[in-house]
Amino acid sequence: MELNSAQTDALSIYQHLIRLIVPRPIAWVSTISTSGRTNLAPFSFFSGVGSKPPSLLFCPANRRDGTMKDTMRNVVSQGEFVVNIVSEDVCAVMNQTAAELPEEESEFQTFGVAEAPSVVVRPPRVAGSPAQLECRLMQMIRLGEGGGAANIIIGEIVHLAIRDSVLDARGYADPEKMQVVGRMGGSSYCRTGDRFELKRP
Ligand SMILES: Cc1cc2nc3c(=O)[nH]c(=O)nc-3n(C[C@H](O)[C@H](O)[C@H](O)COP(=O)(O)O)c2cc1C
Repeated sequence: MELNSAQTDALSIYQHLIRLIVPRPIAWVSTISTSGRTNLAPFSFFSGVGSKPPSLLFCPANRRDGTMKDTMRNVVSQGEFVVNIVSEDVCAVMNQTAAELPEEESEFQTFGVAEAPSVVVRPPRVAGSPAQLECRLMQMIRLGEGGGAANIIIGEIVHLAIRDSVLDARGYADPEKMQVVGRMGGSSYCRTGDRFELKRP
């Protein structure tokens, strides 16, 4: 099959991309609003960027009506967010937090997600997540206008927290112990337990 993206509607392109770009890591992003209300939502258009400066990006699209999702609005107004890493044991509640709640409701309270204070930024961490990356907004790039339009949030990672029990002997996160999940197409996910080694040339 060949597809010219200029002749294909955005929803179909989206359906293709979420099945082609797999597995995707999940940024479970906590933010805080101008009025101090917390917010939590998952984003799988997410990647690390580099280590100098320590940086990552995630991509909250506009809502169908063209407005910003709560996460994006909070990041833009407060300049801070936390990326919580998603392990198997928190995957189900992570999925619940994708619900579109009224702005004045916090996913932390509604879905009983325990908070833990961050060290450098104001938004809280998810206590049950095995690792958290505290970030400050570096750049926000809007790629389009209206409903579904893509945006890129680039954050500087100002603090890393990794649960001691998932560390290996060298002091790095051990994937075996972390049990991180990945997102596949639609509502399907993958475990990361089945791995193999390739020596780098
Ligand atoms: C695993 C998962 C990954 C998601 N990834 C994205 C994404 O990359 N971009 C996006 O705009 N929405 C994504 N969503 C949908 C948002 O989580 C959803 O729109 C949420 O209501 C946004 O919340 P907010 O308005 O509190 O920011 C994802 C949902 C799930 C379950």
